[in-house]
Amino acid sequence: MKINVLLIGSGGREHALAWKLISSPLLGEFHCAPGNAGICEIAQCADIDISAHGKIIAFCRSNDIGLVVVGPEAPLVAGLVDDLNEAGFKAFGPTAEAAQLEGSKAFTHEICDMYAIPTAHYASFNNATKAKTYLRECEMPVVVKADGLAAGKGVVIAKTIEQAIDAVDACFEGEFGDAGQRVVIEEFLEGEEISLFAICDGQVASLIGTAQDHKRVFDGDSGPNTGGMGAYCPASIIDQPIIDKAMSEIIVPTLAGMHARGTPFKGILYAGLMLTPEGPKLIEYNVRFGDPECQVLMMRLKSDLLELMLTTVDGSLLEHEIEWHDLSAISVVMATKGYPDKYENGSAIRGKLNYDDEAPVKIFHAGTAKHNEKIVAVGGRVLNVTATGCSLLDAQQLAYDGIKAIDWPEGFWRSDIGWREIERENGR
Ligand code: AMP
Ligand code: GLY
Repeated sequence: MKINVLLIGSGGREHALAWKLISSPLLGEFHCAPGNAGICEIAQCADIDISAHGKIIAFCRSNDIGLVVVGPEAPLVAGLVDDLNEAGFKAFGPTAEAAQLEGSKAFTHEICDMYAIPTAHYASFNNATKAKTYLRECEMPVVVKADGLAAGKGVVIAKTIEQAIDAVDACFEGEFGDAGQRVVIEEFLEGEEISLFAICDGQVASLIGTAQDHKRVFDGDSGPNTGGMGAYCPASIIDQPIIDKAMSEIIVPTLAGMHARGTPFKGILYAGLMLTPEGPKLIEYNVRFGDPECQVLMMRLKSDLLELMLTTVDGSLLEHEIEWHDLSAISVVMATKGYPDKYENGSAIRGKLNYDDEAPVKIFHAGTAKHNEKIVAVGGRVLNVTATGCSLLDAQQLAYDGIKAIDWPEGFWRSDIGWREIERENGR
């Protein structure tokens, strides 16, 4: 039986999910709210405010939606899945309580403490004076984090006590809004960072891929942090023994802990890991696919995503084997000049944006809209030029050729996405 799906979100992550979902023979009608210019070519887009849960539920009723797939974290933390379930609709993603794994860094640390999950030593405070007294006893560097969701901006790596104190003040002075009412101070972990994605049905977790992203805005990993300027997968630095260790010491106990407290986790658990000399340690959890990591994961995934999601929602993941294409995938973000600070919307994007289904290159849209039949930029991160190849070097070449075929003078991109893995490929 075919099933009507509503996808929530408007980024490159959601375009990649949409592209993968439409290849499923199980898919009936396909809707997206609110979507972007790329998604609207393959789904029926509805301009619904995704924070208005009542409107989403009404849309599900009138369109006979069988599954809602929630892309971004904000609606998950705000309880969209809870509200949909209560209204009788199936949804892929965690409930608000389970989404606390991303919504509160202090919550995640408590789970790690209870289940001896390897992570950074930490302390958390709800007032500045106590936090500063604690800081005076810490060895630098330390990491100061706003507890709540701060769109990736609430983290400061403080090399000196003065920087750490400034970061604590910024939090309590409201720089991150409600997210900064509690501050978490962590030991600085050294090593290479990697992302691991597990699909979880409340009791069972299966690996859906590993990836590495490039958070800094400029080449050579310099400049301010962004949502991510590019990603690739798989990342060979995380080999099978490390994956097994991360699954058994980090993911599995987290899932067991969430189940034991009556808030089972269903959906995508994205672990940001530091590969330290003592083994992988958890830096943070996210409760959804990464963006742009999702774009590369979808290019490699062979299994039917819709079937996997339905299995997850029904709690029968154990019966499902996940298959991948034996390829490397890369995604390079094209952003509007000025991002991640101020930038202007409305510039026209021309050139080659569409490829045949069989082509190894895909352009996933993020901040785009269609105005008078023209594609225009309406966001910071705008396009994700994504490619697969037998090696990451091959994929990288194809992605940068794809960028050359796009005419968008107001855009910029990093020219070194995948450099760590390509250095490793060269050394092999
Ligand atoms: P988060 O929002 O927690 O992922 O932090 C953003 C970035 O800060 C991470 O991707 C890391 O690069 C860095 N970071 C966070 N926590 C730590 C830590 N304890 N040690 C070293 N780096 C960290
Ligand atoms: N690329 C990082 C994230 O999605 O959180």
